[in-house]
Parts: sequence; C-alpha cells; structure tokens
Amino acid sequence: MIPQSFIQDLLNRVDIVDVVGKYVQLKKGGANFMGLCPFHNEKSPSFTVSPTKQFYHCFGCSAHGSAIGFLMEYSGQSYPDAVRELAQSVGLSVPEERDRLPPAQRAAEQARSVALSDAMTRATDFYKKQLRGAQTAVQYLKGRGLTGEIAAHFGLGYAPDDWQGLEAVFGSFRDDAIAAPLVESGLLIESADKRDADGKPRRYDRFRDRIMFPIRNTKGAVIGFGGRVIGQGEPKYLNSPETPLFSKGTELYGLFEARHAIREAGYVLVVEGYMDVVALAQLGFANAVATLGTACTTVHVQKLLRQTDAVVFSFDGDAAGRRAARRALEACLPHVADNKTIRFLFLPAEHDPDSYVREQGTDAFAAQVRDAMPLSRFLLQVATEEQDLRQPEGRARAQFEAKPMLQAMPAGGLRLQIVRELADATGTTPAEIEAVCGLGSDASRVGRYAAPRPRARRQAPTALEQRVVQLLMTYPSLAARLDADSRALLLDSERPESEVLAHLVGACEAIEGQANFAAFSEQLAQSPYAEVYAAARAAVLREDIEEDLATLEFDGAVHKLLAEPLRRELEALQTAVIAGTASESDKTRLRWLVSEVQQRRQVGYRAPQEGD
Ligand code: UTP
Ligand code: MN
Repeated sequence: MIPQSFIQDLLNRVDIVDVVGKYVQLKKGGANFMGLCPFHNEKSPSFTVSPTKQFYHCFGCSAHGSAIGFLMEYSGQSYPDAVRELAQSVGLSVPEERDRLPPAQRAAEQARSVALSDAMTRATDFYKKQLRGAQTAVQYLKGRGLTGEIAAHFGLGYAPDDWQGLEAVFGSFRDDAIAAPLVESGLLIESADKRDADGKPRRYDRFRDRIMFPIRNTKGAVIGFGGRVIGQGEPKYLNSPETPLFSKGTELYGLFEARHAIREAGYVLVVEGYMDVVALAQLGFANAVATLGTACTTVHVQKLLRQTDAVVFSFDGDAAGRRAARRALEACLPHVADNKTIRFLFLPAEHDPDSYVREQGTDAFAAQVRDAMPLSRFLLQVATEEQDLRQPEGRARAQFEAKPMLQAMPAGGLRLQIVRELADATGTTPAEIEAVCGLGSDASRVGRYAAPRPRARRQAPTALEQRVVQLLMTYPSLAARLDADSRALLLDSERPESEVLAHLVGACEAIEGQANFAAFSEQLAQSPYAEVYAAARAAVLREDIEEDLATLEFDGAVHKLLAEPLRRELEALQTAVIAGTASESDKTRLRWLVSEVQQRRQVGYRAPQEGD
C-alpha cells in the first residue's frame, strides 16, 4: 500500500501538462491545453489538459483522470508502477516496505537496479551494432523475409560468436565490480566450479552467435533478451534467466512496440513466438505480442486487458497448441467481464502465424482473426469434447469438466450465458448446473432476478447535496466555513444521504487545503462513495468557478440544506400540535422554528444553470 499522503504530495509536485506533454502534442487554448486524444482516433482535438485542476479530459471518448491515471491508461502500467514512475520523474522515492531498510542499504539497492538497467541498455546497443557487420545473421533475417526497417523497430541485434564479447563494452570480466551486474542481469554466466588460475570464477557471455531480440517492459526499457540460433541448433531460443528486472510469467514480448497499434486496432493478438511478432508487425499486424516460451498467466491477461478490451489468442492447430490454448483459457477465466471479449484462433496444424501469413497472405490471416472462436464456445468445447452426451455419464462428466472453469469466472452475464448453454447441452436446467457447480451467489442465479437490495440502499444525494459536494471538491477549504452547529445538523447521520457529505467534510479537513484537485479526487475515488464523487468530478471538470463565487454559492446551499432538517422538525411538531400531543416546550420550539425556516427561505440559493 502506498500511503495516500504520498500520492497527494506527489500529485502536488508533478505537472500533468508535462506528463501528458511527453506523449501528446499539446497546444495552449485558453486556460487549458488541447491535443489529439491518444485514447481514440480523432482528427480534430477534443482532448484537454487542465493545469489548474491537474486533470485530463477527452470530450470525444470521455477518458479522464489524473497524471497517474494517464500513465496507467497510456502505457498500461499498474497503479504502483505509474506512481513509481511519476515519483522518479520528480526525484521522490515511493515509501513502501523497502523503506524499512536502513537508508544505506536502500541506496545500495537502488544503485544495483540502476546498474542492471544500464548493463541492459549498453548490451542492447552493442548487439545492434554487431548486427551491421554480421553477414550471416543479416542474411538469415533477410532469408526469413524481414526488412532492415522492422529489425530496427524491434532493436534486433547479434551476439558475436565470442566467449568474452561483452568485454568490448564493459571491460574485463575478471573485475568483480564490472562482472557483478552483468552476471545478475543474466548477460554473463559465472561458472560454479571452473576457475581461472588466480582462483576467480570463470565468466563468459551467455549469448553467443545468436540473433538477439530485446524484451522491453511497458516503459520501453530493455529488461531481457531472447537469442535465436542462426539456422539449426539447440536450444533454438535462449532466454534471459529470471532476474530482478525480468520475469517470464509477467512480461510479454513486443508489448511496448505494439502499444499504439493495439489501441488503433482495438485488440491485441497474442502469439507464441518472437518471430511471429516481428513478422506479423511487418505484414500489417503490429498489434501482436508473444508470451516468452511459457504458458500464458493470469498476470499476462491482466496486463493485456489493461491496454485493450479485446484479446485474440493464436495457437497452432496441433495438440500442443490446444494444450497451450487451454492454459490460456484458464488464465483468462478470472478476468472475463461482460465488456471484454477474448477469442481463440486455431491455425492449421502445420502453421504458426509467421508461416501462415507469409504463405496465405494478410487477408487470409485477417479472416482467421475475424472468425476466431469466442471464449464461451471454447470453454464449452473443452468441457464436452471427449464426452458422449447421449449417455448420462457423458453429460455428467461434461458438467464435472466445466465446474472448475465456471467457478473461476466472476458471476456475470457471460457466465450465465455459458451456464445456459451447458444446461442445454447436458439436458439439465441452468439452476441445476449452478447447484452442481456451487455457483451460489444470489445475484447471479439463473432464471431469477436478483431481488432488489432491501432498505440498506443508500439514498442518492439530492441535487442540492450534489452541488455542495462539487463545490467542496473544487475548494476543499470551504469545509472550514461550517460551524459546529451547522455541522451537526448537516451531517445528521440518521439521514443516509448525508453520509457522503459527512465523509467529504472529513476528507476536506484531513487534507487542510493542501491537495490539488487531481490528488484529492484520486483519494475520494478510493472511498465507498466513489460513484458519487466520480459524477461530481465530471461536473467540476466541465465548470470553471472562481473561489469567491463558489464561496457565495456554498454558503447559500448550506443554508438551504440546513433548513431541511428544521423544516422536517417543524412539520413533525405541527402534527403533534394538531394531535394535541405537543408539550409547552414543543410549542416554544415550534415558534422558533417557524421564524427560523422563514428567514432561511429568504436567503437565495442560486441553483446551477445549464452552461455554468
Ligand atoms: P517455436 O519452436 O514454435 O519457434 O517456439 P518459433 O517461434 O516458430 O521460431 P522460429 O520461427 O523457428 O524462429 C515458440 C516460442 O517458444 C519459445 C520462444 O519464445 C519461441 O519464440 N522457445 C522455443 C524457447 O524459449 N526456447 C526454445 O528452445 C524454443
Ligand atoms: Mn516460426
């Protein structure tokens, strides 16, 4: 957990205009900056960045958020990664568990990670330069149909046939200080038992005489390599080992290079090989990425779904391809959602995407993508394919096979549809399938609508309350204008709709007018009232109200809001008087209430106008 106070501090220091400006060409237009939205295709700019609110907002596709949100959307980073990157850009370091380490140790760790990245960058450059002079390597790539342009786009290189090739860049491997980061980053292998005459362990290049494919993280930094033998040889591909920078189960080859194309195409294509990614990019499918010789993991899927709503997996049509597809299916199940589509493409057994697109052409491959099998179909196929559905045993077995998969899916529309189809295929009812598979949650019961949640439902804030929320979000310091009495009345906890206000006033005070709008609304988005705040945030972004005007409006609105509980008390007392149950003190109170409410009505509250 990154502390909220740090997020605020961070967002107070970064300027969203700089952050967005690195990726989007921005022009000043009035108080805001404008540009072409990076999140949808457009010809005229409807993407705005507000320096005062530290927020971006697109009027075309309604993407919006803070600097942190922008980085997450744009580069597909997780929240902590985006925070870390931003922090780094302004020289802050994110407080986390690591900070319990003594400062000296922390500094040493940081230095170590910098040394690793530095080693990877310099090695990448070296391999790239080597490729130019390596005729056989260049011929090999040409022979596989690649252009120099595409090789440059992916930063392909060549590791020379030399046991100490990298010494040319880094210096002697016998120097421990030089060798340490190279060994740790997997560029060098340190022999456990072979030692030189002076007792130093023997160290040598891991990658020799191989075509080098640099693997980048979502920020574009090289974190590992895949190296292919030229022609025949074992292993065909040699990969970087797991290092502090690189983990096969979470990284995807080509994701950085493909990020724009994924956005443009509206989907990502997941293939199995390095060569597939590079060849597809050259032949019109620049939105392809590959797992790194490992099964697809849930982390992979999560990473992909952060960049796009549609994923198409491509597998060979043979048994190995189907096994890999099953693994991918399992990795996808926890992440399915009704607004995401995941599909599976099975190529003819003898093909991979590279060979298929070269032999059959781009259109044929595009047709394969178009006709790819939806996840639901594949799941049902997996469950039923080996069963004889004419027999009770076969039908029961199909349900048995489906059970863990259905259980892995979140309750929702898609799961319900699959349950229905499975019921049809196995001669049962959806409710029976749910019982057999233990899909108990009430909200998802098939054939029965989820009962509306009783009473506990929170009342939506009234228009007036919403306005107060908007004003407080814009100027949190307004909260200080509430005195103890009005606070008690306003935040009366018996009215469920006042919960939001109570929460917001508390939050405003906690930050003591320190946070900017972006930081504050990030914080509010973490609260149980996130929905109310999101709606208010959208309204605030459309409006530019100055502080003195906001103050006037706030006072008026609060005044009117405070009249509400008084008015209700007044009504209750009037009823009591009519019923003859009112005491003397009730009557005194009633007289006071009548004049008070009347007086409050006279203070005008200006309701927000269209186009404010
Ligand atoms: P393939 O054997 O299908 O190779 O491995 P490929 O991608 O078609 O490669 P080319 O076309 O012959 O050059 C698929 C992926 O499995 C991993 C690699 O990521 C490779 O791209 N792999 C394969 C390894 O990691 N090591 C190997 O020895 C082989
Ligand atoms: Mn291949």
